[in-house]
Amino acid sequence: MMLTPALLAFAACLPFLANALPQAASSASTALPTSTAVVPGLNDLARSAGKLYFGSATDNPELNDTTYTSILENYAMFGQITPGNSMKWYATEPEPGVFTFTAGNVIADLAKSNGMVLRGHNCVWYEELPDWVTANNYNATELAAIVANHTGTLVGYYAGQMYAWDVINEPLNDNGTMREDVFYDTLGDSYISIALKAARAADPNVKLYINDYNIEYVGTKSTAMQNLIKQLQADDVPIDGVGLESHFIVGEVPTTIVENMQAFAALGLEFAITELDIRMELPATADLYEQQKTDYYTVVSACMQVEQCVGITVWDWTDKYSWIPSTFPGYGDACPWDSNNMLAHQNYERKPAFDGIAIALQGQSI
Ligand code: G3I
Repeated sequence: MMLTPALLAFAACLPFLANALPQAASSASTALPTSTAVVPGLNDLARSAGKLYFGSATDNPELNDTTYTSILENYAMFGQITPGNSMKWYATEPEPGVFTFTAGNVIADLAKSNGMVLRGHNCVWYEELPDWVTANNYNATELAAIVANHTGTLVGYYAGQMYAWDVINEPLNDNGTMREDVFYDTLGDSYISIALKAARAADPNVKLYINDYNIEYVGTKSTAMQNLIKQLQADDVPIDGVGLESHFIVGEVPTTIVENMQAFAALGLEFAITELDIRMELPATADLYEQQKTDYYTVVSACMQVEQCVGITVWDWTDKYSWIPSTFPGYGDACPWDSNNMLAHQNYERKPAFDGIAIALQGQSI
């Protein structure tokens, strides 16, 4: 029989055949390196180091995958979850004043039954709005009431279950100006204080965050976020934390993350890495996987160096459920676990990126 590369790769996945194959056969399926770290779990390491959690985003459809849930629900590995979609506005108030928490409750219940920290995501965002919010030309009085009611109802419903809420999501443009969306266009920046005050009234104990991307490094947008925080503090608007999303590209992780974190810490609030992933241009190579390990190490060790960084959330932990390929065609493999879940791989395989995280959480050098 002719052993084509595809056949060899397939055969090498089968344990009973793998040993019988000539040496060259296995190389077809082992081109990419995997994790070698032997550690209890990333959340255990994070907590031992004094952080509140190491966690992940998750989404309801993924919970039908029992291989996925067996890893997600391992508290040693993940001590925190964020609903990737099911608490967004379209999912929670699809019609004016009509609230649905069914999907969100699945995530909240999963956190509760596993003793995980829960981060709420999100109250006010320009994306994923139901049509009624943008289509009705609400005036300022009407929209202010809608923002306060949505935020207050959502935060109030989950009061006592949440560690933190991303009350305001992605309010800034990359040049540091306020994003012009239905909220800003109608209410100016007052929509931010309206939502934060409504959230505080609904749950006096939950941490109120503003979450954004491209504020992870020293630059115009980060400075603008710091100025926004200072203004809210000066105006006595409740604000407890900043979410540094951290969607990075392999080989392009910023060099000023620690300095930038110190600037946020100096404002007297906490912050978290809320949506970490590090994508690469496909096809993946061994070199890219090794660089990704270094890049994950760099980001996680930055959080380790600044006390006010309370925890790290990856924006899902397996490439199988990453948002990257559909949004950035040609890019992928952004997560610390790969997407293998077949034949001999009845598990998602840990990548070198996993080791980069584990090394950083242990305070070691790479
Ligand atoms: O629910 C529909 C489903 O019915 C349909 O079959 C399917 C077909 O594509 O689409 C489903 O909706 C998708 C939804 O995710 C749930 O999977 C939307 O099209 C898709 O746009 C949506 O993408 C999410 C995106 O936010 C927009 O809300 C991603 O999963 C989610 O990872 C991403 O997360 C954001 C954070 O909230 C904020 N920061 C950036 C981050 C990445 O974009």
